[in-house]
Amino acid sequence: MLKRRVWLLSALTISVVTVAAVANGASSFLPNLFSFPDPNGVLKTYSSTGTIDLTGPFFQSLGTNGRSCASCHQPSDAWSVSAAHVAARFEQTNGLDPIFRTNDGSNCDHNIDTTTVAGRRQAYSLLTGRGLIRVALDLPARAEFEVVGVRNPYACNDTSTLSMYRRPLPSTNLRFLSTVMWDGRESSTQTGTQPITFATDPGDLLSDLAHQALDATNGHAQATTPLTPQQQQQIVAFEMGLSTAQAVDSSAGSLNSLGASGGPMTLVNQPFYIGINDPLGQNPYNTAFTPVVFTLFTPAWVNASATDAIAASRASILRGQKLFNSKPIDIKSVGGLNDATGLSVIPGTCGTCHDAFNVGNHSVSAPLNIGIADVVNPLDVSYLPVITLRQKADPTKEVSTTDPGRAMVTGKWADIGKFKGPILRGLAARAPYFHNGAAASLKEVLEFYDVRFDMKLTDQEKADLVAFLTAL
Ligand code: HEC
Ligand code: HEC
Repeated sequence: MLKRRVWLLSALTISVVTVAAVANGASSFLPNLFSFPDPNGVLKTYSSTGTIDLTGPFFQSLGTNGRSCASCHQPSDAWSVSAAHVAARFEQTNGLDPIFRTNDGSNCDHNIDTTTVAGRRQAYSLLTGRGLIRVALDLPARAEFEVVGVRNPYACNDTSTLSMYRRPLPSTNLRFLSTVMWDGRESSTQTGTQPITFATDPGDLLSDLAHQALDATNGHAQATTPLTPQQQQQIVAFEMGLSTAQAVDSSAGSLNSLGASGGPMTLVNQPFYIGINDPLGQNPYNTAFTPVVFTLFTPAWVNASATDAIAASRASILRGQKLFNSKPIDIKSVGGLNDATGLSVIPGTCGTCHDAFNVGNHSVSAPLNIGIADVVNPLDVSYLPVITLRQKADPTKEVSTTDPGRAMVTGKWADIGKFKGPILRGLAARAPYFHNGAAASLKEVLEFYDVRFDMKLTDQEKADLVAFLTAL
């Protein structure tokens, strides 16, 4: 028993430790729909298997460095990790919690001193400051480009294995995925995994997730013996049963009261199939695309509110939903869209790219380059490496990027800087945002879009969109 509690302390954050305490110290279960406080209210997860068993393989140390999946996928943080909670974990453990490991938790795996607290503070600064994990990938065989040089602020300058810095994606709401990982590398023929298609989903998704669990254990947890097929199945079944969303907003109250359908329970029955709402005509039933992607909050929800303050917050969330569904965006120079369609300007909305109903990821696999990895960027990316690539076919073409993204899977020049549009639920619990954590807040996300697409958003529109995203 003592052993298990020590393990609980080291493997999970403060919040889960609190849960254990609440449940009289002896519980190894998280009650279903447990309330996790986050900066804007309460986050909840529904598990189709009933309670969340904190002793299952997802929570076990299955490798050699003490990490479990939960080291980086925390129930309190919408099954990702918020940078704030990682920083708190550092302070609580003096940087000794298993998330702080040099294989991929530190800024680089060499040129560091982890023998002192001060040394560790420096070595893990990207993890505590931005919640970033170092993803090291080999240059794909037969890539259309070569690496001219790498300027990595932390000395990881290798040009055959590139170090990139990425946020853990939530290991929840996985039923809606159209591709696994930011760059889709666990759903790609190049890696021996399966693209997720209408015809083969969910078999392809389940096998990709099983492969992903194996890779994660070998990589992040430095396993010397691979997961058994049974452990893989248990992890996948567990993850697939999770539905997570913001349930209570600190200003607007319960997000599923009076006819609104926020919170995790409505996600459980949310219809989805690959291509359910695709702007480029990939719906398998030829159903037309609609930009009205989110329908969680209805006018009735606002009118019926009890107090003025609550009514005002609800009205703001509702306006934000409407802006998401209708505010025009001139989509320009987006790799994967403008080049794919041959249109220099695509009149769109947020939902052109975040099109899956009430979930917000792209309903077909669509790696897009909106410029988050660009060296010259409305966001501060000065903490990231500069990787310079040269096209083999035309050596006059050179590009510098902080992360080649999908191109490190396909080897294609055209795929440089492309990433998937992620699921937009449980956002409040898992700042910062984008694959590289460059937006510290949802406000910064909106400021990025405002500049990048010259949207001319008013302060009120930004505030409404932030209120809406926070309530997801
Ligand atoms: C050291 C931190 C860390 C650990 C430990 C870890 N992950 Fe992750 N996980 C990440 C990061 C970072 C990403 C995104 C990387 C990328 O896309 O390049 C990710 C992505 C994922 C995704 C993809 C979700 C999506 O939307 O595509 C799943 C699923 C996942 N992890 C499950 C697991 C499981 C299961 C385990 C345990 C076997 C695990 N992870 C262990 C950091 C971690
Ligand atoms: C042209 C396509 C496109 C449009 C338009 C678009 N997005 Fe995105 N969005 C993406 C992609 C791709 C990513 C992931 C980018 C990355 O991290 O490299 C993303 C990421 C995000 C994230 C971060 C999620 C996370 O987990 O970190 C948020 C929030 C978001 N978008 C909200 C919006 C809102 C709100 C709008 C409308 C104002 C919008 N997006 C318009 C493509 C788009």
